[in-house]
Amino acid sequence: MNNQTLKTLFNHRSIRKFKHQNLTQEQIKTLLKAAQQASTSQFEQQYSIISVTDPKQLQVIADVTGFDFVKSAGQYFLFVADQHRNEQILKSIDPNADTSNLHSTDKLLAGIHDVDFAMQAMLTAAESMGLGGVVMGSIYNDTSKIIKAFKLPQLTFPVLGLALGVPDEKSIVKPRITPSIIHYQNVYNDDINQDQLNHYDQIVHDYYQKRPSGNRSETFTHHLMSDLQNNPIRKNILPNFKKQGFLKL
Ligand SMILES: Cc1cc2nc3c(=O)[nH]c(=O)nc-3n(C[C@H](O)[C@H](O)[C@H](O)COP(=O)(O)O)c2cc1C
Repeated sequence: MNNQTLKTLFNHRSIRKFKHQNLTQEQIKTLLKAAQQASTSQFEQQYSIISVTDPKQLQVIADVTGFDFVKSAGQYFLFVADQHRNEQILKSIDPNADTSNLHSTDKLLAGIHDVDFAMQAMLTAAESMGLGGVVMGSIYNDTSKIIKAFKLPQLTFPVLGLALGVPDEKSIVKPRITPSIIHYQNVYNDDINQDQLNHYDQIVHDYYQKRPSGNRSETFTHHLMSDLQNNPIRKNILPNFKKQGFLKL
């Protein structure tokens, strides 16, 4: 199997260094169209996308994420799970409409799913246009600051950032785990094939040695150990979900 869509998908790698070149309005329009055409839970389109262009707002993102490159990206998008807009729509039709469902765990998940699908569609579209980018969950480092700076109302939550631009770094594709380790038939398979895992560790080790920037000596299992044991858990996510009006049901 070989077609342009598959080539784009198989060629994905995150880009964190960009040429100082803003995306054109035409490119942004196309990217938004790709994002909007993604699947959306129950056809409720429960997300919003904020283009972050004000240097002060970009500085907030840089401070929270710890990534300065966001300021030189061609475009930065903040993706927000959003049940607020749908509540407003319902209330404008009927001020007494029962909107309690929008405060549920289910609807928080739906908003997060919608963001994830829209964002992946946008990233793949960008890559198909010769651009590159990186998804940024590091906005969770301080969700209170993001909520305040971007004036996010009740029933919204910042889910991910996306930095896009013209790539200014050489990189190679990061190899993924052997499919049989993550793909099961009919029921969950609890037995990890150690030989396959060792083999994958070697592949990841080779990748880190070969990649043009940030090369180091690391395997997948080393990475898991250090990531999971050394990174502090971001603690205020759950309270902020609740403060924003979610998880009531
Ligand atoms: C939910 C999510 C959050 C991520 N957050 C960050 C981030 O904050 N900063 C960053 O540099 N990369 C981030 N990434 C990118 C991953 O590090 C990257 O996708 C992974 O290492 C695989 O590398 P690749 O995308 O180059 O194949 C994130 C990816 C996902 C899916």
